[in-house]
Amino acid sequence: MEEKKFNQIGVSFKGSGSYVPHQILSNQKISQKVDTSDEWIKSRTGISERRISSSEDNVTDMGYKAALNAIQKANWDIKTIDLIVLATSTPHDLFGSAPSIQAKLGASNAVAFDLTAACSGFLFALITASQFLKGGNFKRALVIGADQLSSFVDWNDRRSCILFGDGAGALAIEATNKFDNFIGFDMRTDGERGCFLNLPSKNIKDSIIDNIDFVSGGFSPIQMNGQEVYKFAVREVPIILKKLFKITNYSSDQVDWLVLHQANQRILDSVGEKLKIPKEKILSNLEKYGNTSAATIPLVMDEAIRKNRIKQNDIIATSGFGAGLSWGSALIKWG
Ligand code: ACO
Repeated sequence: MEEKKFNQIGVSFKGSGSYVPHQILSNQKISQKVDTSDEWIKSRTGISERRISSSEDNVTDMGYKAALNAIQKANWDIKTIDLIVLATSTPHDLFGSAPSIQAKLGASNAVAFDLTAACSGFLFALITASQFLKGGNFKRALVIGADQLSSFVDWNDRRSCILFGDGAGALAIEATNKFDNFIGFDMRTDGERGCFLNLPSKNIKDSIIDNIDFVSGGFSPIQMNGQEVYKFAVREVPIILKKLFKITNYSSDQVDWLVLHQANQRILDSVGEKLKIPKEKILSNLEKYGNTSAATIPLVMDEAIRKNRIKQNDIIATSGFGAGLSWGSALIKWG
């Protein structure tokens, strides 16, 4: 009945895909490198192991494999894809990796570009692509989250190196005039608190000729104030989700799945408690993959879809958060 009254463009979720590199770095193996233990990492983060990219698994390769998976699930002809948005902070090419994925796929009718918002990247990319579909410009979009933070981690810093891993995930979304399964969203940034988590430029001064200086390229490893990032996440994520429930007229007990950026199991538990969402409804794969940055949300969703946990018409509340600082939320219905 409701469908007949619908007279605008909505978004439909058609498929998901993911890819992780084969190399497994367990907590025991990390403790051969830095002064830590499986017990410490497991109890403070919930992580047991993470995947590390080799030279064949850069962001373009991982993103391509995840995207191909999602296209197959959606049963799309590749030439019908209009838009590819790649969320990443670690592109294989700083000028953008999305067009390389477009070329590998043979999606010659799509426009492809990168979007950077660290661990909020996938959510921001999903919101961006959905707005293009709702605006009527494009019909089919691939949203990819892929990151290779292992290349930028300081492997001698036990406070941060234990958290991160590499991987990719993707969702295939489509415009429809029958319903809208992208129910609502919200997004925020606060650059004032950006100093808590950075992957900064090396800022090495050099000169081209006398009196003409330049700053050479390259990045320093990830710098993180773990306690501040933790406090930020457990404070802001429940607030932005509660606000989303209010503006969409939903309540937390209508939610089938809470899909949070996978940063730390204690953050997931705390947000779940504050929203009164039971543990069984909170997706987590931190134990196997750690924090894969822009990849965590589509990776954990794809796993749940393949295991038939997320089903057609399930309501999913999702939130991404991280460097920037940046954070956001979205409420969607799967299918
Ligand atoms: N092994 C053993 N001991 C350690 C380790 C380790 N790997 N790391 C730190 N410690 C020690 C510290 O030195 C400290 O010892 P001290 O008390 O003698 O000084 C003690 O453990 C406690 O350290 P804390 O930093 O207080 O530990 P905390 O409980 O806060 O856990 C953690 C640290 C896991 C990093 C936590 O703060 C966290 O998860 N923060 C959020 C980080 C995050 O999610 N970042 C990514 C955001 S997403 C993005 O955009 C990339």
